[in-house]
Amino acid sequence: MAVGSRLRHVIESQQFSRSLLEDLFARSDEIKRDPHRFSGRLNGQVMAALFYEPSTRTRLSFEAAMMRLGGQTMGTDNAREFSSAAKGETLEDTIRIVSGYADVIVVRHNEEGAAKRAAAVSSVPIINAGDGPGQHPTQALLDLYTIKDELNRIDGIRVAMVGDLANGRTVRSLTYLLSKFKDIQLSFVAPPLVAMRDDLKAHLDEHHVPWVETEDLESVLPEVDVVYMTRIQKERFADPAAYEAVKGIYRIDKGSLELMRKYAIVMHPLPRVDEIAPEVDADARAAYFRQARNGLHVRMALLDRLLA
Ligand code: CP
Repeated sequence: MAVGSRLRHVIESQQFSRSLLEDLFARSDEIKRDPHRFSGRLNGQVMAALFYEPSTRTRLSFEAAMMRLGGQTMGTDNAREFSSAAKGETLEDTIRIVSGYADVIVVRHNEEGAAKRAAAVSSVPIINAGDGPGQHPTQALLDLYTIKDELNRIDGIRVAMVGDLANGRTVRSLTYLLSKFKDIQLSFVAPPLVAMRDDLKAHLDEHHVPWVETEDLESVLPEVDVVYMTRIQKERFADPAAYEAVKGIYRIDKGSLELMRKYAIVMHPLPRVDEIAPEVDADARAAYFRQARNGLHVRMALLDRLLA
């Protein structure tokens, strides 16, 4: 797996150096300003999208990114049912076959570690589009880009991660990226049942990133620059009673906005269920739709980096 400024597979956030992130964000800025300048960059190249779990944003923004760069796409959006996985084919065999047809493979899978397994047998770059509760590194790229775009800085920010932190692959990947920046402070807001996992807390300690845990969202809102809301992920709970115990536990509404700083932003990887009230959408601090839109430009920059 490539590290630093050379990229081959994109599996986890730890791969990205600060300088590589800065290069990618500078290219994302250029693409955002003038996307037509990049059309044709990937003429003749093919992206395969293998999605074993549902997706709207990740799949469609990757497809749009590839097409806007002049490439073509193919794939399956219900690979557990509509690919030969349904006949018992292993992920490894599927990847061996598809890497003979495509120049890059974007994989979303229900099992943590699946993207790494795919990369081990692939002859073309693998991009992890979410592996169970593991990581979602390209979401973290667009999240971090959005923070820089909205607040004009990353160093020195205070971020509250809120909701299902045990199962939230986006918070995991974003936390790994934030740990590469200076003077970051993190608040993990979750009930014990879905608290941030210990491996990530140990990583933060190793990198001297201060963090606190709390269940009290209201006490944190006045202190942070970014409120990163997440959905309680019903599909990851084996016990329905456990899900019922924590669903709907946090909600940002107009009252929450009054507690927040005037320039702070509300982010969410989406989809949302009920954790952000629709009344919040009209507030300038609601950054989540701009965040999703940034996914197109960041994924264009990433594909360009991998393939051009
Ligand atoms: N944020 C995100 O991964 O959304 P999708 O599940 O719609 O791809």
